[in-house]
Amino acid sequence: MHELHAYVPGEQPKIKGLIKLNTNENPYPPSPKVLAAVKAAVDGRLRLYPNPTAQTLREKLARLHGCMPDNIIVGNGSDEALALATRAFVEPLERGLQAASPSSAKQRGSGVNAALLSRSIVQYFTPSYSLYPVLADIHGAAKNAVPLKPDFSLPSVTQLKRGKQWDFNAALTFVTTPNAPGGCGYKTSELEKLCRAQKGVVVLDEAYVDFANENALKLALKFPHVLVARTFSKAYSLCFQRVGYFVGHPELIAALDKIRDSYNVNGLGQIAAEGTLDDLKFYRANFKKIISTRGWLARELTRLGFRVFPSQTNFILVKPPLFPAQDWLQKLRDHKILVRWFSAPEVRDYLRITIGTQAEAGALVTAVRKIAAV
Ligand SMILES: Cc1ncc(COP(=O)(O)O)c(C=O)c1O
Repeated sequence: MHELHAYVPGEQPKIKGLIKLNTNENPYPPSPKVLAAVKAAVDGRLRLYPNPTAQTLREKLARLHGCMPDNIIVGNGSDEALALATRAFVEPLERGLQAASPSSAKQRGSGVNAALLSRSIVQYFTPSYSLYPVLADIHGAAKNAVPLKPDFSLPSVTQLKRGKQWDFNAALTFVTTPNAPGGCGYKTSELEKLCRAQKGVVVLDEAYVDFANENALKLALKFPHVLVARTFSKAYSLCFQRVGYFVGHPELIAALDKIRDSYNVNGLGQIAAEGTLDDLKFYRANFKKIISTRGWLARELTRLGFRVFPSQTNFILVKPPLFPAQDWLQKLRDHKILVRWFSAPEVRDYLRITIGTQAEAGALVTAVRKIAAV
């Protein structure tokens, strides 16, 4: 137990007046209709259990995505759905095997049967969402972390085959698309090639897809082993309510449904998410504002000497000039601006900056100018 490393969430500051660009929250509040629906539901009914299967929400989502409610499972945030997938589709390793990395075990010919090992592998690219290795560790699974290309684009299937580290039989593969923290968007056609080559379950984690050029939802309805993860947290301003979901084949969904808690999605969360789906126009206007601010901020920071990676998300990854990234983190904090820095070797030279309002982005640029002038 003491070897487990918990997921490290971004700071939720107690001090007032800080500009929060560190956790990819949406800077715009939920629609007035959503707020009204949640407020209207706060009465004596709070004593009752919510709908155990989020039935109304699943029906609405099914209409939106052109599928059946049986294609959908809702979770307490998409994080819960990712955790359920790890528990449902991956076999924990026998004790003692856990320390062996999949590649080293195979290369050493250590007697570990490769096919058996694949059943215990949680596979993902690096850098990507830092929760995946935590989920693997909690479950006692093996991790197979394979580097993305230096610009955070996806290696092709041919490159993955050549590299020999990727396991096409891995029990579970997570792909963050668009990527986090890189921000890089992936084409559905390249994701489809990867899905076709993969024998185990593939989760396409589309937490940020509403800010991207394309989405891969159709792959979840085409392939029986592909799930697409979505969340109301980022694009739909509902982090507080914790609602996310998977779309996929009814058999995969049924397997997940068996192991979830009976009332895993809280009642107010269900009401807020349903209200969100009734007011999508409101949110689409916000996506446009965020995408426009993203372009502006990328241009301004590039002018100030930052290397800015192209982003199809509500954040940008940047390599700052003059000082190490970790120093920028503190200097920006001194100017009351929070951004995110990760200590992992492949990203420690970068900062991840959430796209806030245009005014917040302006304040960031002003602070950067002051810091750079010192
Ligand atoms: C790639 C990715 N997937 C999933 C999530 C989790 O979102 P949720 O709030 O729905 O649990 C996050 C949150 O940061 C994320 O970055």
